Amino acid sequence: MQLNIKKIRCSGSRTEWFYLIPIGDTHIGNIGFDETKLRKLVKWIAEKKNVFWIGMGDYCECINYTDKRFDPQQVPEWLRSKLDNMISSQVAKFVEILEPIKDRCIGLHEGNHDRKIRIKNQYDVVYEIWRAFGIPKIPLLKDAAITRLRFESRADGAAGSYSFDIFSTHGNVGGRLGGGKLNRLEQIIGFFDADIYLMAHSHIKLTESKMLLYADNKMNLKYKKKVLAVTGCFLNGYTQGHTSYVEKMMLPPTCTGVVKIMINPRKGDIHISE
Ligand SMILES: [Fe+2]
Ligand SMILES: [Fe+2]
Repeated sequence: MQLNIKKIRCSGSRTEWFYLIPIGDTHIGNIGFDETKLRKLVKWIAEKKNVFWIGMGDYCECINYTDKRFDPQQVPEWLRSKLDNMISSQVAKFVEILEPIKDRCIGLHEGNHDRKIRIKNQYDVVYEIWRAFGIPKIPLLKDAAITRLRFESRADGAAGSYSFDIFSTHGNVGGRLGGGKLNRLEQIIGFFDADIYLMAHSHIKLTESKMLLYADNKMNLKYKKKVLAVTGCFLNGYTQGHTSYVEKMMLPPTCTGVVKIMINPRKGDIHISE
């Protein structure tokens, strides 16, 4: 379990919004990786103010030719001449694409694909990405983390700070239907106190908002909003002219793209959308 604080400067204005984008399950090195979509997202983040992203794991496909899951038909053209240097080539491509927004990264989780190559082949994909970004203060979030976003406003002086906690994990929830994934997120609310709950791995997008009622110090009934998400992917499950694990297993098509969390520090408000 990793705990981190990310301090962010804000104006203290009631109209100022910040965005948090979870980026994961890109699976670079699989033929189904939607490079165009990821590059479009990176451009949007780079050109917009007040946007941060969190790395949700499974950045690279990490299945080399000695792995029993290896299928040459799932290797894209650009990688076919690099089979003996496959994983570091995937890492280099991830770093090249995310380079323009590396300074907006608030942490990098490890996914199960990244983990397998670290344990079996002693090559730490997440560490190599972190090293290539060259920003030591980006935390390595491993499997699960609580990150406190602490917004600090100069205008409001000592009173002007607002905090939101993110619980995030790559996760391990599979299955064919969305219900199991949402159930897991709702269980997690009972284990960890946070405002934003993020889980990757399932290659679908699901969002939910929840209200928790409580009595404040003066015995006024108040509510606290929590937002939950399964965070999408950049891997098409079905690709014309090629096969895939999803196709072999007859799994549902994936939902590519990201979910977007909007935070208004001054109002203490959070929104979530796909
Ligand atoms: Fe994945
Ligand atoms: Fe995964």
